[in-house]
Amino acid sequence: MNTDDVVRTFLDFYRERGHEPITGSSLLPPPSDPVLFTTSGMHPLTPYLRGRPHPQGRRLVNVQRCLRTTDIDEIGDLTHLTVFDMLGSWSLGDYGHPQSLRWGYELLRDGFGIPREKLFVTVFGGDEQVGPDLESLDTWRELGVPVESTRDENWWSNGPVGPCGPDSEIFHWTGDGPPEGVPTGDPRWVEIWNHVHMRLERREDGGLVPLRQVNVDTGMGLERFVSVLQGRRSVYETDVFEPWTRGVRTLWVLDERSLRIVCDHLRSSVVVLGEGVRPSNTGRGYVVRRLIRRLLTVLWRDDDSRTLTDLPEELTGGGTVRRLLLEEERRFSRLLERGRRVLSRPEFRGELGDEEYRCLHDTYGLPRELVVGLLR
Ligand code: SER
Repeated sequence: MNTDDVVRTFLDFYRERGHEPITGSSLLPPPSDPVLFTTSGMHPLTPYLRGRPHPQGRRLVNVQRCLRTTDIDEIGDLTHLTVFDMLGSWSLGDYGHPQSLRWGYELLRDGFGIPREKLFVTVFGGDEQVGPDLESLDTWRELGVPVESTRDENWWSNGPVGPCGPDSEIFHWTGDGPPEGVPTGDPRWVEIWNHVHMRLERREDGGLVPLRQVNVDTGMGLERFVSVLQGRRSVYETDVFEPWTRGVRTLWVLDERSLRIVCDHLRSSVVVLGEGVRPSNTGRGYVVRRLIRRLLTVLWRDDDSRTLTDLPEELTGGGTVRRLLLEEERRFSRLLERGRRVLSRPEFRGELGDEEYRCLHDTYGLPRELVVGLLR
């Protein structure tokens, strides 16, 4: 199955079970929303999880483009991406969590052909505030899928306050030999799908109150799922990333980790710039600036004559996005040049303290992060 087949299979499965497909929201939430980017499929649905009736009903399904900067330091591993698509299904006060788990299992087994032996799930084992999720435990046992109970890893929230609840995560075995160990103890178990029992609201004071309705929110990272299904070692080896890895490999010789960072940051930058965000020193603009500068730092580590100008238009497009990428490259290159010049002065020799860093920032416009990179 390629990526399009996976999306179609997921949407059809839920449509056949009464779910209305809803259009994914923008990657940029409205100004009234405190978050910079849409981080999950449920985020735009928050008012409806809290009880407002959704115009398309109580069973929904969609594909949502998401961006997560919390994972930025993990980029370069086999499974994390900055920008990714999330397949999601929702019951807004309609069917319960066990039904969601049963359908989830049915879809994985019959729709995607995944044998039970390749699956392991985790459920919430309880903490001081909320008891163990026995309902999910029983459902998985009934389905014959092995279960592990955890505490912190099986609680989902989208921030310090707001809708939240215990979740059940489904893992797929990606090792070469037969499955062994448990998800929390063996990274070859890769999380592919999360079913959240979204039934509580975290208040400012840390207390939990029941939501007006009991919901189910599920989310499956598309690129990661496709890589598992296609038996690839990483998300970068799937059909979605093929043009990126091919394009980048043709131009530059990079170790595997650097190749992944360059591909991820390049693709994410192109997406974010394409949404109209412009590089700057604050908010969303800072996120895209950081992505571009991180990718250039990796590229220039071995050879500072490398340039984004060489990228084919197939990847960047020929218009504004490409122009912005190249402008940011020039700006960063000039900044580095100035940085090297300034740092070679006698007053900046030896160990730098807070005062020198402040001076470099305030007088020469050189951020601490950049200076640290140059000194390295
Ligand atoms: N909200 C959950 C997640 O993002 C499930 O959709 O993982």
